[in-house]
Amino acid sequence: MNQYERLRSLGAALNSGADDSLRILDVGAGPGSPNYSPYFAELATRYVGVDPDEDILENNWVDEAHHMSIEDYAEAHRAAVATGDDELYDAATAIYVWEHLPDPAGFLRSVRSVLRPGATLLCITPNGLHPFGVMSKVLAKLDLTDRVLRRLRPDEIDHYHFPVVATRNTMWGVRSAAEEAGFADAEVMLHDEPGVFVPYLPDRLKRLPYVYSRVIGATNVDVLSGTLIIRLTA
Ligand SMILES: C[S@@+](CC[C@H](N)C(=O)[O-])C[C@H]1O[C@@H](n2cnc3c(N)ncnc32)[C@H](O)[C@@H]1O
Repeated sequence: MNQYERLRSLGAALNSGADDSLRILDVGAGPGSPNYSPYFAELATRYVGVDPDEDILENNWVDEAHHMSIEDYAEAHRAAVATGDDELYDAATAIYVWEHLPDPAGFLRSVRSVLRPGATLLCITPNGLHPFGVMSKVLAKLDLTDRVLRRLRPDEIDHYHFPVVATRNTMWGVRSAAEEAGFADAEVMLHDEPGVFVPYLPDRLKRLPYVYSRVIGATNVDVLSGTLIIRLTA
């Protein structure tokens, strides 16, 4: 199963609320992604997106788009819930958002505050222990990300690039941030899909992620896998 198939199978296990509704918030939704947005749009009885980037306004999969950060949205949403004008969410997703967060625990606190108890947050993020995760962090620290991406993926840098800070992008970092934010349970699944990294590499290195994947598989060090798939319970 690829990462999005795994995400969709976790989506299929989401529990609806008491009235059988399934209100899902996509945090950091951006313009939406064909890999997961249509699936959750179909699954949800109400599908809402929030993102400080204006690309959210082009997201045609959500029923409602909020052009703001989750921190601002959560504050407004709390007030609306208190007056009975809105309801808590049954689930949320944050797909390829975590690696951009300077304060993951603060982010998670905001997400948790819009979820009902027992609701699920699903995330996908690169594993900070994989060479790609390590490289992204080093390049970000040296302020070289833009220069390197401009060479390797010029289309991406012009349209759709957000600074990577990659704090707490490990199994342990995720679990401790979730605990700090008050989530009742944190499950971190390791996933290795070499093809995800290939587009970032020059032609002569494109086989490397496959070799790496075989080595970590053969040596049972899946803690060094490329991707973290996260399921938190509020
Ligand atoms: C790499 S994009 C991922 C977009 C989409 N989820 C996808 O997978 O195609 C990361 C998104 O997270 C958003 N983001 C970063 N910090 C955020 C925050 N505090 N609240 C909400 N969205 C945030 C960015 O603006 C950006 O649109």
